[in-house]
Order: sequence, then C-alpha cells, then structure tokens
Amino acid sequence: TWGGVPLAPPDAIYKLTYAYNDDPYPEKVNLGVGAYRDDNAKPWILPVVRKATEITVNDPAVDHEYLPITGLAQFTSAAARLILSPESPAIVENRVSSVQTISGTGANFLGALFLSRFYQWPEGQKKVAYVSDPTWVNHHQILKGVGIEPLTYPYYDPATIGLAFDKYLDTLKSAPPRSVLLLHACAHNPTGVDPTREQWLQIADVVQERAHYVFFDSAYQGFASGDLDADAWAVREFVKRGIPLLICQSFAKNAGLYGERVGALHIVSPTPEAAVRIKSQLSVLTRSVISSPPAHGARLMALIMNDPVLFGEWKRDIKTMAERIITMRKELHRLLTDELKTPGNWDHIANQIGMFSFTGITEEQSRLLTEKAHVYLTTNGRISMAGLNSHNIRYFAECLDKVVRG
Ligand code: LMR
Repeated sequence: TWGGVPLAPPDAIYKLTYAYNDDPYPEKVNLGVGAYRDDNAKPWILPVVRKATEITVNDPAVDHEYLPITGLAQFTSAAARLILSPESPAIVENRVSSVQTISGTGANFLGALFLSRFYQWPEGQKKVAYVSDPTWVNHHQILKGVGIEPLTYPYYDPATIGLAFDKYLDTLKSAPPRSVLLLHACAHNPTGVDPTREQWLQIADVVQERAHYVFFDSAYQGFASGDLDADAWAVREFVKRGIPLLICQSFAKNAGLYGERVGALHIVSPTPEAAVRIKSQLSVLTRSVISSPPAHGARLMALIMNDPVLFGEWKRDIKTMAERIITMRKELHRLLTDELKTPGNWDHIANQIGMFSFTGITEEQSRLLTEKAHVYLTTNGRISMAGLNSHNIRYFAECLDKVVRG
C-alpha cells in the first residue's frame, strides 16, 4: 500500500547526535546540536531551574489538569515582558497576542500557519517568506509544511566570513512591498554573525519604507551577550517603530529546558481590538494541533520570571553559560592563531556571537573531521561552541588544524 512513500533523509542535526551517542571513541566531540554543555561536556541543569522544580513539585496546588488552550497566562505574559520589556508600547497598549507553544519550533510553526491562513500577501505574490541564506535548516521545512515558499536573502559572505550587508539590504529593498521576512533576533543560527546596531537601524529603515512584515525568531535571548535586555534590542527597536511583526520565543537554550518544550508566540498588532481577534484564531489553530500546551516547563518559567529573586538567579545562570562560550571562542582563536599557526585568518571565531560559529571550512573538511577525528559537526562547517570545553578544545584545534592543512 505504501509503495509511493519515499524514504526521507535523516534530520541534518539530530542524526549527528545519534551518531555521536553510538560512537565508542573516547575522545569524540559533539559540536552538532545547539545545546549547552558544561566544562565536562555534560548537560547543565540551571541551578535556578532546580530550585523552581523543587518549589513546583512540592506545591499542593499543582495538578496535572489541562492548561488553557493558549497556555499558562502567568507564563505568556511574563514571556512577552521578557522579550518586549515591561514598558513596551505594545504591552502598555495591550496590543500583543501571546500564546504558549511547543518551544521555538512550535512558535515558528504556529506563526507560519497563522500567516499562511490570514496574512494578506502582496498582490500577485504567492505565499512566500524570505529567510537568510543560510538559516536554521528547520525554517525551510516549517514554512513549506504550511504552504509558504521560502525564498532567501543574502546574509553570509564566505569571503569575509561575515555579513553580506549590502546585498542583504538590496534584497530587502527590491522585495515586493509587504513581503514577509524571517529575521533572527540575535545569535544568528547557523553563522554566529549578527548585524551591528547601526546595521539593524538601516535594516529597520528599509523594512519600514517597504512596509515588510517581520517574523522574528528569538531562540537565543541571553546567549549573544549574556544580557537578556541587550539581546532583545533589535526586536524592541522594531516594535518601537511600529513595524508589523511577530516573535517566536524559545526557552530551550536560555533556561536549558530543551526537552520540556517551553516557548511562546507573540503577535504584535496595531490595536488591542485586533489583538483579541488574532488571539482567538491562534487559540483555534492551537486546539487543532496540540489541544493545549504542556504545563511543567511553563510553570517553572512563570515562577522564575515572576519572582524577582529567582529572576536574578536566572540572569546569573545565563551569564555563566554565555561567558563559558565566550571563553571557548577566545581559547580556540588563541590555539589556532598563536599556538598552531593554522593557515588562514581565525578572527571570526572570536568575533562571532552566540551558540554557534561558522568556521569557514568546506563540506569536505567538515566530513573529514567527523570521519577521521570523531568530531561531529554539520557539513556547513557550523560548530556549537558549547560543545567545546577545557578538556577537548586542544584536541579539536589540532584536528581542525590538520584538515585545514590538508
Ligand atoms: C540547532 O540548530 O542545533 C538547534 O536549534 C537544535 C535544533 O532543533 O535544530
């Protein structure tokens, strides 16, 4: 019966985790999935999350009933304040429709599904959304899955291992007015290359001029700079300007709640009345896909974000993660540049931002690292900096040096 079902290729990122787990080699290194690891390559349960878990599991008022369809209100409202700031005009004026989602992926899916159903696409344009070239691999299939064709805007320039800013801006200028643009709020995945604030302002100018719609993916708030507010700067600037937008928010990375699937979608509207209508439709869409979202992780984050003491502890935990990653960037740069004198310029390793670094090595070199050195990374040369630690960084630098020398 199912003869017509083609075999799908394995997921580019998850397949690395599976292969790494199955590899018995003692010095294996996992730089594939973007998941934080401590200095012993172990997952890190944030101390503040441990504390919140203890409080939650011992709370006699906590049960296992369904959450409301749009999620735990104490969570979604705090999540909106986290990304937009409590003083945001959109929040003060009651113009945000926030719903809880299955982490960032669920937010991307729901946001895309909502646009696919309700966005008034530019006259003569099919349903399309512009994504950065490259972008998180899943963006493509999420968009396609809801009938939106992903087109790309230039983003990464292999010659400079930096931002292809002029070309990026030109594409935004030449895209039909009211096009949908998917932008990474901070800590661009996979490149680690973010626009500067000056560049963001220019992007915002063009977006405003062309009346584009912005689909922000914010999966790394706190990971770029170690500061939640600084990493929300671009989103807040766009909101301040009244640019129409939505935000997909994940707590997988900044709270280490990967498997708990904690996220939110926030759609900012021009009026409170539109926000009510939008939320009613998000509720219908959510009901048809997941009925209602999972409770545990949302309870933890509601507790952490609404309690000033726990919130302060969370900020310290985020700093711990961001700083360890920055230390690894500096050390890898030092090893390649000063010690091993690896051919080429490696400044981008130190300058890139967030969880990932685009090393600039070729697909073939990436494959060799996996096959010969048991170092797992995506074939586009992306490495998850959080997979490096004081024990494996020299091994990795030496292996990288070897493949670069050929
Ligand atoms: C990644 O890019 O490695 C992470 O965002 C994890 C994922 O779901 O792909």
